[in-house]
Amino acid sequence: MSESNDAIGVVGVGWVGLVTAACFADLGRDVVAMDVDEAKVAALSAGQVTMHEPGIEELLERNRERLTFTTDMDEVLGRTRLLFCCVDTPPTYSGDADLSRVQAVVSKLADDGTHALVMKSTVPAGTGATIRREKPSLAYVSCPEFLKEGSAVQDFLHPDRVVVGAEEGSDWAADAVEELYRPLGGKLVRTDVASAEMIKLASNAFLATKISFINEIANVSEEVGADVTEVARGMGLDTRIGPSFLSAGLGFGGSCFPKDTTALKQLAGNSGYHFQLLTSVIEVNELQKRRVLKKLEKHLGKLAGKRIALLGLAFKPNTDDMREASSLVLSARLQGEGAKVAAYDPVAAERASELLPDVEFADSAAAALENADAAILVTEWPEFAELPWAELAGRMSTALVIDGRNFLDPASLREAGFAYEGIGRPG
Ligand code: UDX
Repeated sequence: MSESNDAIGVVGVGWVGLVTAACFADLGRDVVAMDVDEAKVAALSAGQVTMHEPGIEELLERNRERLTFTTDMDEVLGRTRLLFCCVDTPPTYSGDADLSRVQAVVSKLADDGTHALVMKSTVPAGTGATIRREKPSLAYVSCPEFLKEGSAVQDFLHPDRVVVGAEEGSDWAADAVEELYRPLGGKLVRTDVASAEMIKLASNAFLATKISFINEIANVSEEVGADVTEVARGMGLDTRIGPSFLSAGLGFGGSCFPKDTTALKQLAGNSGYHFQLLTSVIEVNELQKRRVLKKLEKHLGKLAGKRIALLGLAFKPNTDDMREASSLVLSARLQGEGAKVAAYDPVAAERASELLPDVEFADSAAAALENADAAILVTEWPEFAELPWAELAGRMSTALVIDGRNFLDPASLREAGFAYEGIGRPG
């Protein structure tokens, strides 16, 4: 059997792993996807999807015959040569990336030329070199993933670029990875392993920097009477800057930016370099979520006993992912001030209910807003733009909206009787 006919192995069926497995299957490859979580594997084998991600259900359904889900690593090893490592690398107490799940995968691989480990998990630069020292005959390719939750399938199928990092001796595996991705288009960056690892970390850190930068511009705009959405529009037309990731708001959350910025800062620190800029990016992001309380107090005075409705809980729309969501910090801070928190999210409520104690979950935005003293738009779900705001103003105790994502139209809200505050927009 030639290499190109081998099944593709995927280890770890979280967001990256499941999307990778489904998309390779859609490209016509047999895929064996392994996870240690028996319940997840059983659900996926029975055709149930374990996360909210547009397009994934259809892909899995369409490619059921090409996809095998298993908890058995030997089954994966028996049917594959290329093994995509998609396990998570959460932060440790020190802020470094926890590589124990990656190490568990490596420990299962023989130190011979049979298999290649293709690293999709986000790992510190230097991880590939360590693994290669440990198992010099194991082929190793760094192929970082750049997909965004909520558009992960589209991002996978239409990549801007595909980064393939490998050293001498692993060329056969790097060529095979290139071949797999070729039908998707996207510019190929063939490079060494350490540089591929850094491309991933630097890309996420740069995007996070863009967000913290525009958030600081928003904060200054509030002081000088400028509108940050206009500022961003004007800046973004400069092709050197570009329009994306210039939306001011409550800061970045999710499974990647907070973790990866901290991990890069730690990686630099461990190597003896103080990454000053990134330290500020992280701090700005933390403070940005808390500024909302000042805006509320400006209108409501002390928040004790006030009922505050959170519209949206997920870290961004089109996902039910609650990791590092701004809603977690906001809700805790509001409760810390003695406010009562009501919340509505169209898909993340179930996950959120495990994380947000003493929050009243409503089954619609209107129900969350009933008798509320303020609404905070936390996640820009499209349905919030369509709400009958004029009618809702009458059902709230105070018609106040803090638009944490600059998502709503200030003029229409004010016309509907609301006091409206965005982020970096004139009051
Ligand atoms: C990110 C990277 O974009 C992706 O390449 C990487 O593989 C994983 O991390 P993701 O976390 O899914 O993807 O979402 P993204 O759309 O990048 O948003 C991250 C956070 O930044 C969200 O909380 C979002 O609300 C926030 N954000 C994004 C802003 O506050 N402003 C912006 O302009 C863009």
